[in-house]
Amino acid sequence: MSNNKLTTSWGAPVGDNQNSMTAGHRGPTLIQDVHLLEKLAHFNRERVPERVVHAKGAGAHGYFEVTNDVSKYTKANLFSEVGKRTPMFIRFSTVAGELGSADTVRDPRGFAVKFYTEEGNYDIVGNNTPVFFIRDAIKFPDFIHTQKRDPKTHLKNPTAVWDFWSHSPESLHQVSILMSDRGIPATLRHMHGFGSHTFKWVNKEGEGVWIKYHFKTEQGVKNLAVDAAAQIAGENPDYHTEDLFNAIQNGDYPAWTLYVQIMPLEDADTYKFDPFDVTKVWSQKDYPLIEVGRMVLDRNPENYFAEVEQATFSPGTLVPGIEVSPDKMLQGRLFAYSDAHRYRVGANHNALPINRPKCPVHNNQRDGQMRFDGNGGGSVYYEPNSFGGPTESPADKATPFAVSGVADSVAYDHYDHYTQAGDLYRLLSEEERTRLVENIVGAMTPVELEEIKLRQIGHFYKADPEYGTRIAEGLGLSVPETVK
Ligand code: HEM
Repeated sequence: MSNNKLTTSWGAPVGDNQNSMTAGHRGPTLIQDVHLLEKLAHFNRERVPERVVHAKGAGAHGYFEVTNDVSKYTKANLFSEVGKRTPMFIRFSTVAGELGSADTVRDPRGFAVKFYTEEGNYDIVGNNTPVFFIRDAIKFPDFIHTQKRDPKTHLKNPTAVWDFWSHSPESLHQVSILMSDRGIPATLRHMHGFGSHTFKWVNKEGEGVWIKYHFKTEQGVKNLAVDAAAQIAGENPDYHTEDLFNAIQNGDYPAWTLYVQIMPLEDADTYKFDPFDVTKVWSQKDYPLIEVGRMVLDRNPENYFAEVEQATFSPGTLVPGIEVSPDKMLQGRLFAYSDAHRYRVGANHNALPINRPKCPVHNNQRDGQMRFDGNGGGSVYYEPNSFGGPTESPADKATPFAVSGVADSVAYDHYDHYTQAGDLYRLLSEEERTRLVENIVGAMTPVELEEIKLRQIGHFYKADPEYGTRIAEGLGLSVPETVK
């Protein structure tokens, strides 16, 4: 007997997979063809909701190896000693497009890394940019509405995009990066990654430092010219996905060196701006890059849905030695991701093979939809108990921190959205500036209201008078007198 028989989902051999059962040669289809019913019904349920942002993505497995001893700053087990290797999985993505959208569009790229450490999974859910468009989570749904399709026309809406940005000048730094050459990476291998937010590292003595992550590509930064990107988007919308898969398949393993910037805790009170504001970078003169290790991608997923679509990353997936900061965006993200995972993949998403820690898991979560592991078997299912169940470990508590002030809805208390965006412009070569201005002029031309264009020109002008003037000229407008 062949051991390769086609079976139903309940394991029984299928007698006919080509012809449904009918009443007579021409009669209607019979409901008793349960194989047909099951086949059609399961097909209807093949999709899970796509991610509300970052829907289009590509993933790969690899490892992280420590190359520099940072154990005096963090007790995190994955950074414990030089030479230590930790398995990891990464998912790259675009932000605004749907699951089938083109890879070579102008958009930030997601850079989400899951480290399977011996003390639980650790996720860095970053982007290929060191800053973000907004600095308070409460603005995120409105911001993303402007990036997605207009509810009436179902088209992208440049008026909404620039209306929101022009009313949210904290976006200027990230908008300038997005509109620069880096807005369209040549491949996923040729871009840097950043944790973007400030996090806290804590050592064995309980001493903390503020840190920011930088993954520097060892392939070098390469970008696509606008025309080439548009052509590729039409000819091969999956260009970046294919490039990553083929590189790994051919043994050309992409790698990144991980660095951190480290800030003493007390500097946060005296630094020239609030270091938790995710629209700003910390000067590398003030806080130089310190090498940590190397990330190498050396294995493609076996199955896209199982490993890439079902992967769930959250900035709150932390391990002892790594804690959050008061960054108002990060704080909101601590809710948003796990909530999205419960909706998109289910309450037991962390038990799926791609998300399951590679260390023992002992908790008192039981039941829930799709509980396909042993559900804890006969082990103790509550705590405290008298039966030797797993117990809490006080040494792994997060460090205490002082809070003060009056509870209120308050903004960051500084409004210089211009210096760092201007510094970026001034760092560019003349050719890069020309392309930046062209990209912005091209993107703003369809904006319907002149008042939106003028408001945004004012922001570019405040970053650098030349920057604003060139964009105004490109749009056939003048810089408003009020901003001069
Ligand atoms: C994905 C919310 C800001 C990077 C997502 C998802 C949500 C979300 C709901 C989909 C998660 C899923 O279905 O698995 C938010 C909110 C933000 C925010 C509320 C602000 C308060 C950011 C920032 C970054 C970022 C600042 C980068 C620094 C990503 C990445 C993904 C993602 C990389 C894709 C993760 C993956 O590959 O599965 N975000 N986001 N997000 N977000 Fe955010």
